[in-house]
Amino acid sequence: MLERTFFMIKPDGVQRLLEEEIWKRIAQANIRVVKKRAINMEKAQAQELYAIHKGKPFYENLVKFILSGPVVVSVLEGREAVSTIRRLMGATDPGKAVVGSIRADLKEEQYIDPILKIIKNICHGSDSPESAQKEISIFFKPEDLA
Ligand code: RTP
Ligand code: MG
Repeated sequence: MLERTFFMIKPDGVQRLLEEEIWKRIAQANIRVVKKRAINMEKAQAQELYAIHKGKPFYENLVKFILSGPVVVSVLEGREAVSTIRRLMGATDPGKAVVGSIRADLKEEQYIDPILKIIKNICHGSDSPESAQKEISIFFKPEDLA
């Protein structure tokens, strides 16, 4: 079924110039970009996006990281777009992501703090169609997506 998802390249992905490689992989998976835009996220948007993680040990650093530089936010569409993008991204921890996934293949090799290492995992993709709808609405107006 044709489905939409919210996908974001995090500040580390933008800073490390990984965008082109990521969009190539997405296109190869037959997922279409409905809309994409580079932004500096507002604090309120970051808090809304990550509201579900509030109180977890990594929450404060995660919000701080997401606000640390430009991100690219997008709405993607395709067959089973949510699960397809999650598969392309790989596991949350780049060290545990399967070879062939974005987080594994493009991970930062240089040693960094173990918590930041998971926080700086290049990209974000919605985990369900319901989350997708909610996350899209944080960054895009319906008329943007007509
Ligand atoms: P995402 O939401 O970014 O697509 O990633 P996810 O579903 O794979 O991971 P989730 O559990 O939703 O966590 C959201 C983001 O928080 C950071 N995180 N850090 N240090 C840690 O233990 C830890 N755990 C999660 C990651 O940036 C993760 O993508
Ligand atoms: Mg998540």
